Amino acid sequence: MLLNALLPLLVSVGYATASSILFSGGTVIAFNYTTESLDVIRNGSVLVVDDRITSVFRGDELGGQMIPEGTEQVNITNKIIAPGMIDTHKHGWQTGFKTLASNTSLVEYFNRYGEFPADGLLNADDVYIGQLAGIYEALNSGVTTILDHAHHSWDPATTEAGLQASIDSGSRIFWGYTFHNVTNFTIDEQLVHFRELATNASYGGTPTELAIAFDSFGPNPNLRQVDAIVGLATEFNVSAITTHSLQGPWGYENSPEDLHALNILNLSIPIIFSHASFLTAAGATLLQSTNQFVSITPESEMHYGHTHPHSHLIQSQAALGVDTHFTFSGDILTQARLWLQAVRKILYIQVLDRWHVPANNPMSACQAFLLATRNGGLALRRNDLGVIAEGAKADLVVWDGEAPSLLGWVDPVAAIILHASVGDVRHVVVDGKWKKRDFELVVESEGGYEGVKERFLASARGLQRKLWEKPVFAAAEGGSFPSGYAFEDAVTVDILRGDGDGYGSTFVEVG
Ligand SMILES: *[C@@H]1O[C@H](CO)[C@@H](O)[C@H](O)[C@H]1NC(C)=O
Ligand SMILES: *[C@@H]1O[C@H](CO)[C@@H](O)[C@H](O)[C@H]1NC(C)=O
Ligand SMILES: *[C@@H]1O[C@H](CO)[C@@H](O)[C@H](O)[C@H]1NC(C)=O
Ligand SMILES: *[C@@H]1O[C@H](CO)[C@@H](O)[C@H](O)[C@H]1NC(C)=O
Ligand SMILES: *[C@@H]1O[C@H](CO)[C@@H](O)[C@H](O)[C@H]1NC(C)=O
Ligand SMILES: *[C@@H]1O[C@H](CO)[C@@H](O)[C@H](O)[C@H]1NC(C)=O
Ligand SMILES: *[C@@H]1O[C@H](CO)[C@@H](O)[C@H](O)[C@H]1NC(C)=O
Ligand SMILES: *[C@@H]1O[C@H](CO)[C@@H](O)[C@H](O)[C@H]1NC(C)=O
Ligand SMILES: *[C@@H]1O[C@H](CO)[C@@H](O)[C@H](O)[C@H]1NC(C)=O
Ligand SMILES: [Zn+2]
Repeated sequence: MLLNALLPLLVSVGYATASSILFSGGTVIAFNYTTESLDVIRNGSVLVVDDRITSVFRGDELGGQMIPEGTEQVNITNKIIAPGMIDTHKHGWQTGFKTLASNTSLVEYFNRYGEFPADGLLNADDVYIGQLAGIYEALNSGVTTILDHAHHSWDPATTEAGLQASIDSGSRIFWGYTFHNVTNFTIDEQLVHFRELATNASYGGTPTELAIAFDSFGPNPNLRQVDAIVGLATEFNVSAITTHSLQGPWGYENSPEDLHALNILNLSIPIIFSHASFLTAAGATLLQSTNQFVSITPESEMHYGHTHPHSHLIQSQAALGVDTHFTFSGDILTQARLWLQAVRKILYIQVLDRWHVPANNPMSACQAFLLATRNGGLALRRNDLGVIAEGAKADLVVWDGEAPSLLGWVDPVAAIILHASVGDVRHVVVDGKWKKRDFELVVESEGGYEGVKERFLASARGLQRKLWEKPVFAAAEGGSFPSGYAFEDAVTVDILRGDGDGYGSTFVEVG
C-alpha cells in the first residue's frame, strides 16, 4: 500500500547512472544535527542515491523531492533502520587466531600473539584472507566503518595484502599503516613504502581511506621518526592517526600529554587514542581543547586487564572499538552493551560505597547507541558517518524488529542496544551498496562467501598449528613488565569444588 502510494512520484530526474534504494514503511532512527539528538520516525522512509542518503521522511511526506526512476523498493515494515556501527579500533589480520587466546593476559599477548611475535608467522595470503574474513564478520554484525590499526606491516607484501583486502571488502575501512620496529622491514623502509602507497592511492574512489598508526610517541620518542611520520601524515592529509595508549603501570604511554609535548595534538588530522587506560585529568582536558577522541574497547580492556578507570569521565570525547576480535566479540553491539552496564555499575558503586541507595540510572541506552554510531563519526571528524540524515553516507543496518528477542519493542534504540543480537541484522548497506541482504552476506568475488570461507579456513588451520607449537608464555617469577612494574598473579576463581578449571584435554585441537 505504501509503495503504491509512492508510485506517482516515480519520475526520472536525470540520475542516468545512479543506483538508488528506497527503504520504506519502517522505524527510522534518524539524527538531527540541530538538536544533536536522535529522532525516531515511525512509518518512515530512507532514500539512498549512490553513496548518500538523500531523503529521510515520514509516511508520504516526501516534500518536493523525487524518487529516481528504477529505484529499488525495500519494504521495511516492522523493522528498524539504523546507522551502521563504527569500530574505532581493530586489528583485522588476526582473524585466523580465533579462540586461541580465550583466557590469556596482556603480558602473554605481547609475547605470543601481537605484531612482534607474529612477525614471520603470516605470509601475504594469510594477511589478505584474515583481514577479509574479519571485515565480513564485522559487516555481518552491522559494523560498517572500521579504523584498523593495521600492524601487519612486516614487509611490503604483507602490508599491501591487508590494504587490498580492505579495498576488496567494499566496507568503509580507515586503514592505518603501522610504523613499527620489525625484523626485516625498517622504519626507514616503511616510510618510503608508505609514500609509494599514498602516491599510488589504489584505494581512490573506494570507501577505504589511508590512516597512520604509531605506538612510539612517548615516553622517549625518537624525534626523527616522529617528524618523518607526522610529515607524511600532513603531506598526504591522512584521514586519521591512531595510537595505543596505556598509562599507569603499563608504561605504554602515547598519552595526549606526550603528543601535545611533540606539538602534534592540535593538527587538523583526527587522532584516536585506543584504550586511554589511566588517562589523566590533564590528558582529558587536552582531548577536549583539541577535540581528539579515545577509543574505549570495553571487552578488550576487561579481558586483558588494561582496564578503563577514567573512561566514563570522558565519554563526550569517546567512541567504541573491538580490538583483538580473535579473542572475543567482533561486533560493536556487544561492546556498547558491555560498556553501558559497566558504566552503570561503576557509578552505582560510588553511591553504594557511601551506604546510600542509587535513586536514578546514570547512563542511558541512547548514550550507548550514540557512542556506537555518531561518536565514531565524530572521532574520525566525519559528520556524515554514524547517522541517518540527509547528506550522510548511506551506511545502514536494518534490524529485524520481529525477531523473538525484539518482539514487543516500542523504543527502537533500547531494542537494539539491550535486546538484539547480531543475528537480528537483516540488511547491511555500505556506501549505498548491499553488503548483507536478507541475512546473507553479499560477496562479489568469485565463489562468494563460501569461497572466502574455504580460503580463510585453510589459512587459519595453518596459522593455528604454527602458533600452537610456540612455547606457552609464563611471566617470570619476580620479573617485571618492560615498564619496570613488577608482575603479580591475580587471584583466580573456583568454579569447581577442588582443583581444576573444568578444561578437559580437547578444547584446542590443532590437527
Ligand atoms: C510491506 O510489508 C508488510 C508486512 O509484511 C505488508 O503488510 C505490506 O503489505 C507490505 N507493503 C507493500 C507495499 O508491499
Ligand atoms: C531538527 O530539530 C529542529 C528543532 O526541533 C527542527 O526544527 C528541525 O526541523 C529538525 N530537523 C529535521 C531534519 O528533522
Ligand atoms: C504509512 O504511510 C503511508 C504513506 O503515507 C500510508 O499509506 C500508510 O497508511 C502509513 N502506514 C501506517 C501504518 O501508518
Ligand atoms: C585457557 O584455555 C585453554 C583452551 O582454550 C586451555 O587449554 C588452558 O588450560 C586455559 N588456561 C587457563 C589458565 O584456564
Ligand atoms: C627475515 O628474512 C630472512 C631472510 O630472508 C628470513 O630467513 C627470516 O625468516 C625473516 N624473518 C622474519 C621474521 O620474517
Ligand atoms: C628494534 O628491535 C630490535 C630487536 O628487538 C632492537 O634490538 C633494536 O634496538 C630496536 N630498534 C629501535 C630503533 O628501536
Ligand atoms: C605503485 O605503482 C607503480 C606503478 O604502477 C608500481 O610499480 C608499484 O609497485 C606501486 N607501489 C605500491 C606500493 O603499490
Ligand atoms: C584534509 O582532508 C579533510 C577531510 O577529507 C579535508 O576536510 C581537509 O580540507 C583536508 N585538508 C587539507 C589541508 O587538504
Ligand atoms: C587547539 O586549537 C584550538 C583552535 O585553534 C584552540 O582553541 C585550542 O586552545 C588549542 N589547544 C591546544 C592544546 O593547543
Ligand atoms: Zn589494539
